[in-house]
Amino acid sequence: MNLALFDAKPYDLPAFKEQAAKSGIEIKFYETKLTVDTAELAKGADAVCVFVNDTVNKEVIDKLYEYGVKLIALRCAGYNNVDVKSAYKKIHVVRVPAYSPYAVAEHAMALLLTSIRRIHKAYNRTREFNFSLSGLTGFDLHGKTVGVIGTGRIGSIFIDICKGFGMNVLAFDQYPKADLGVKYVDLPELFEKSDVISLHCPLTSETTHLINDDNIAKMKKGVIIVNTSRGALIDADALLRGIKDRKIGGACLDVYEEESNIFFKDFSGHIVNDDTLARLISMPNVILTSHQAFLTEEALKNIAETTVKNIVDFFKEGRCDNELCYHCGNLENCMKVRKEKCF
Ligand code: NAI
Repeated sequence: MNLALFDAKPYDLPAFKEQAAKSGIEIKFYETKLTVDTAELAKGADAVCVFVNDTVNKEVIDKLYEYGVKLIALRCAGYNNVDVKSAYKKIHVVRVPAYSPYAVAEHAMALLLTSIRRIHKAYNRTREFNFSLSGLTGFDLHGKTVGVIGTGRIGSIFIDICKGFGMNVLAFDQYPKADLGVKYVDLPELFEKSDVISLHCPLTSETTHLINDDNIAKMKKGVIIVNTSRGALIDADALLRGIKDRKIGGACLDVYEEESNIFFKDFSGHIVNDDTLARLISMPNVILTSHQAFLTEEALKNIAETTVKNIVDFFKEGRCDNELCYHCGNLENCMKVRKEKCF
């Protein structure tokens, strides 16, 4: 079985090589991302393995199909970059639904604490032997209200962490969970009452630019926005306006709408042409990490294990629990008991 793994990074290799050796899968690692121009590299492969910023649109899917690729194995949870509808009846799509929700939830809290206690500022100052405290005043999380949008695997762990800090939690989810012990409210109320808003819902047509001018206007002055989910949940220009207006007190971002050609690469010696990103980074109250919330040893091991298991299940067992099934109308939880492939 041959696998073409795109957007391969040095940290991906050890775990994938170990799993490949165990399962007998032959993996070709490509540093380049999958795009319509690089799809040709998948010729001769039974499956391709892709990550968050690979382009898997109709054009790419049609090419892969033409080359005889039978499976697209996402090595991540989110699948907004895959046109699952276009893949139906051509190529099956599987993903890793959970690899370490703790990694992402803990990173969200790390960003939040760094922002509100100005750790990023203090770190740079003390390295220059500047021990002044001016401008480093933060605020307690204890007693503050956090609004969590999306209370799935990651959101619910983030809620537990926030409760540990003594925060009041308000939540919004299309499918509220009765046993979570939080107060679900509608979005306007969440925007109006939260001191911190953390996004943990997937990117869909409904959630695109959920954080926009209108919704920012409903928020408290000084609100801190945390996004470790997907960049396009936030209209970055609206965020910038909110920061310039002093309405938004801080933004903690692990993702950015236009990240796909920028993140995971070293541009330190280059001029980056994205003015919105450059302006955001220049703000003292914006912290940006480049989609690294998932990046823990535990997560990398789980990603490789589940991805390879998905591929083995698909080719050897003829089915895979983690198939994204467009046909069933419920992408994540197939309505049928999956005893075979979906088409
Ligand atoms: P999940 O599927 O367990 O939870 C998502 C929750 O969002 C569900 O409870 C769902 O009902 C809810 N939801 C769906 N549509 C909604 C809407 N319109 N409004 C409000 N809630 C809605 O997913 P999980 O594992 O918690 O991941 C959440 C997101 O985190 C993923 O979609 C992915 O985009 C992102 N992620 C980011 C990573 C990173 O490294 N920065 C790593 C892994 C995931």
